[in-house]
Formats: sequence, C-alpha cells, structure tokens
Amino acid sequence: MAKSPHLTRNEFVKTMLAVLGTVMGVVVGLPAVGYLVGPFLKVSSSDVWVPLGPLENYPVGTPPTLFSFTRTKVNGWERTTNSYGCYVYRETAAHTIVFSNVCTHLACRVKWEQADQMYHCPCHDAEFGPKGQIIQGPQTRPMDRYENKVENGTLMIHFTKG
Ligand code: FES
Repeated sequence: MAKSPHLTRNEFVKTMLAVLGTVMGVVVGLPAVGYLVGPFLKVSSSDVWVPLGPLENYPVGTPPTLFSFTRTKVNGWERTTNSYGCYVYRETAAHTIVFSNVCTHLACRVKWEQADQMYHCPCHDAEFGPKGQIIQGPQTRPMDRYENKVENGTLMIHFTKG
C-alpha cells in the first residue's frame, strides 16, 4: 500500500514539537554559550595612550615628578593588574621627557634623589642623570623613555607593555 504524501496528525505534532524544541534550544542556548565563551575571546590591547594629567601639573624647572598608574590586562577569564611608574621631566616648555622608573639593569624601581640630582637604583646602586644617562653602575643602557604627546592640554604616554 502506497504511503500518503500528507502527514498524519501524529507525524505533524512530532514534527512541530521537534521544530519548536530546536528553536527554543537555539534561543536559550546561544546566549549561554556566548556568555561562557565570550571572555575567552577577550584580550585587552597592550598598546594604549595613558593620560598623566594636565601638562601644567609639570612646570619647567621642577624636579622629575613620579606618576604611578595601573593597567589591567584581560586575557580570557584571566585579569591581571600591574602597577607602573614613570618620571615626568619637563626640560623646556616645548620638550617633556617621560622616563620609565624601571631600572635598565635588572628591573628594580629607580628613585629620583633631589639632593644628588640623579636617579638611584637601590638594588645594585645604578645611577642615572636627570636625562636618564648612565652615571655609574652595572646597567649598560640609559633609562627607557616613553613616547609622549600632549592632547587638549593633557600629557599622555604611549604604553606598549602587557
Ligand atoms: S636592578 Fe638596578 S642596579 Fe641592578
């Protein structure tokens, strides 16, 4: 006996339930999958401009000024917050130098010593001059500098670390 090309009532109900189940599964499941998988796809940019405040906060003729900031790195579910520091040295009205406060020897933090007019690293006694040049110590290169710019009166540094 040939089968009818039309669906029986039972076949129709089963088909509709399957279609509805599939639609409901997609509607409910996709956002849940997105919620679970989304953070894995997030990676924060490690190339940003960090504002250091108004340029007028760093007058010419004042000692290098320490500015501290934190950056949070997002890599999937992992969030890591690190502290950084830099010294702003306003050499002239038109020229500002921003140094990393990380020693170029083995990455301790240097400190500006106003009485001695130099940066000093307490770990192995590296000494750097006001322009970051080597005075003495085990370091083989001068202090690292951040590229900087002024936008709408705000001093900014180009930060490329994680
Ligand atoms: S880490 Fe600064 S002198 Fe060694």
